[in-house]
Formats: sequence, structure tokens, C-alpha cells
Amino acid sequence: MLKELQLLLLVTLLLLCGFLYQLTLKSSCYFCLPPDEFQQGPEALLGKGRIIVFLETSERVEPSPLVSCAVESAARVYPEQPVAFFMKGLSDSMQLPPNSTYTAFSLLSAIDNVFLFPLNMKRLFEDTPLFSWYTQINASAQRNWLYVSSDASRLATIWKYGGIYMDTDIISIRPIPEENFLAAQASRDSSNGVFGFLPHHSFLWECMENFVEHYNSDIWGNQGPILMTRMLRVWCKLKNFQEVSDFRCSNFSFLHPQRFYPISYPQWRRYYEVWDTDPSFKDSYGLHLWNYMNREGRTVVRGSNTLVENLYRKHCPRTYRVLIQGPEGLVTGELGLGNE
Ligand SMILES: *[C@@H]1O[C@H](CO)[C@@H](O)[C@H](O)[C@H]1NC(C)=O
Ligand SMILES: *[C@@H]1O[C@H](CO)[C@@H](O)[C@H](O)[C@H]1NC(C)=O
Ligand SMILES: *[C@@H]1O[C@H](CO)[C@@H](O)[C@H](O)[C@H]1NC(C)=O
Repeated sequence: MLKELQLLLLVTLLLLCGFLYQLTLKSSCYFCLPPDEFQQGPEALLGKGRIIVFLETSERVEPSPLVSCAVESAARVYPEQPVAFFMKGLSDSMQLPPNSTYTAFSLLSAIDNVFLFPLNMKRLFEDTPLFSWYTQINASAQRNWLYVSSDASRLATIWKYGGIYMDTDIISIRPIPEENFLAAQASRDSSNGVFGFLPHHSFLWECMENFVEHYNSDIWGNQGPILMTRMLRVWCKLKNFQEVSDFRCSNFSFLHPQRFYPISYPQWRRYYEVWDTDPSFKDSYGLHLWNYMNREGRTVVRGSNTLVENLYRKHCPRTYRVLIQGPEGLVTGELGLGNE
């Protein structure tokens, strides 16, 4: 009798544990998944193949208009693919208050194929060469930690899940017809602002190993574009680009600078100027706006007819309507999400 009672108790306990586990799974990303995805959790969603990845390694949760435009434009260019935005400032259990004033955050969550996830670096780096580096490092003593941790996270995310990583200052204009690629910002010079690989590609694994071997956060870009360029030299014989065609390199492509950097960084202000005729960017897949150069804080102003205003209007119309202000600093668009 006592034995049966014990057994019954055990079974009840197990059931309760299972139930509680289900509950924590559901609440792990409560507000960022549509109802039918609740059961699956991020892993299931991301494991389905080519995702588009954006990262925010600061604690900021409300995206700037440019970040919102980058994510929205990607969601439009890749309507069949999940666009995953990982944010450090989101904790696993966080829920936004119902009266939240996070306009851009709400705007992005409302897009069908956009998913906002917490960025948990420790979990992300598990099973990669970056794990031991990450667990030993004192983040607050590192220079450029926001950049360094972003460089590491993008390598690990694309290595694990496969897909395309993009900086939050790239406006997508047409789909990238490549699965495995790096993008040049100049001849013989790779960026790490956008790249794509199928899951578990050995190039990225070697990048992560090299990241740890040559780690030095005092040199800006040493774990970023400099690392990519260093590894690219190991994997292929680089030449200067001639006409607008890409290089084939082992089993990936090295894309011509026109694909993402048609306006090079010394000219970044051109985006904020009025052009006689807007360029067609016919050889580009996306436009990198060089936001880190923008220390003078140039913004998109409604009615200014600058190149960037016209790009927003065309490639991220919701962001334009909801977040872009007129010259007096007033939001002239409707505040609600409205219809498309
Ligand atoms: C949101 O609601 C909470 C609780 O009702 C309140 O304390 C807070 O001030 C509100 N915030 C805004 C921005 O209205
Ligand atoms: C990490 O670095 C900070 C800043 O240099 C220092 O104040 C802190 O004591 C360090 N923490 C550990 C655990 O070493
Ligand atoms: C790409 O090439 C490398 C080196 O030749 C090889 O080890 C790797 O398996 C290849 N990966 C894919 C996905 O084809």
C-alpha cells in the first residue's frame, strides 16, 4: 500500500515537473513569437534553415529608426524567411508592459516574419571555440566590448543556424542569390557587416578559432573585418576586382564591393544629400549606411528629399510612416501601426 502511494506520488511529481518545464519554455520568449510558434521555441524556428540575423549587443531595446528600417527592409526582401533580431537587453523572461512606449519595438514585433529574441551569449557560444574565451574574459575590462562581442556573436550564430548576418545599418533592396559568401568593402578587403553560410561551414569554424588565437580587443576590427580578411587570404588567392563580378573562392563567393558598399565610407554623407537623380543601385543587394561614421548624428527628415529619405520611403515604408519626423521634430505620420 505504502509502495503504491509512493509510486503515485512520484508519477504526480514527474507530471508536475513536465508541466512546469512546458510553462518555462513558453514564457522564454513570450511576446516575440506568434501564438502557433509558442510550443517550438527559438531553436525550432531557427533550425529551419536560412535565417536573416541582426544583433544588438548594447542594452538598448527600442531600436533607432535606422535599425528599424534595416530589419523591416530585410523582412520585405525575404518574406519567406524568418528575420531574427537578437537583443542583449531582452532577458529570457522579460515582458513589455502593455502601455509600452517602445514604438519601433512594437512596429517590428508586428511584422509576420520578424522575431525578437534575447541574446544569451553564453548559451550561443556553447559547443564553439568561443566558449572558453567567453567564460574567461572580463568583459568590463575590454576595450570595444560592444563590437568585439558582436563580432563573436555573429560568427557563432551563423555557424550554428546558417543564414545571413547583417549589420543594423544595412537597408536590404533585393535578395542575395548566394548561400555561402563574404562581402568585399574594397578589393582584397572583406567586411564582416554582412555574410552568409550554410550551417556548420568550416570557414566560420576556423574564423572562431582564429578569433581566440589572435584575440586583441585594443585593435579596432581585429576580430571583425581584419579577421575575415586574414582568413580569406588563407582560403583563397585574392586579386583585384575588375568589372562588377564576384570571385569564387573554395566553396563560397567573395562579393564585389558594389553589392553592399556602392557608396564607400569616405563618402557616407552622400546618403544624407539630395541627388539630381537617385542612383539605381542596380548591382547592389543592400546598402551599408556606415552608421559608425555618423558621429554628427545626421537623421532622416521627412520631406527633405535626401537619398536616405527616398530609400526609407521605398524599402521600409512602415518605419518611414511611424518613426520619421518632419523638420520641426514632430512625428507627422500616424502613431498607430495601421494597415500597410
Ligand atoms: C505604465 O503603467 C504603469 C503601471 O500602470 C505606470 O506605473 C507607468 O507610469 C506607465 N507608463 C507609461 C509610460 O505610461
Ligand atoms: C574586471 O575589470 C574591471 C575593470 O577593469 C575591474 O574593476 C574588475 O575588478 C574586474 N573583475 C574581475 C573579476 O577581475
Ligand atoms: C568547404 O570547403 C572546405 C575546405 O575544402 C571543406 O572542409 C568543407 O567541408 C566545405 N564545406 C561545405 C559546406 O561544402
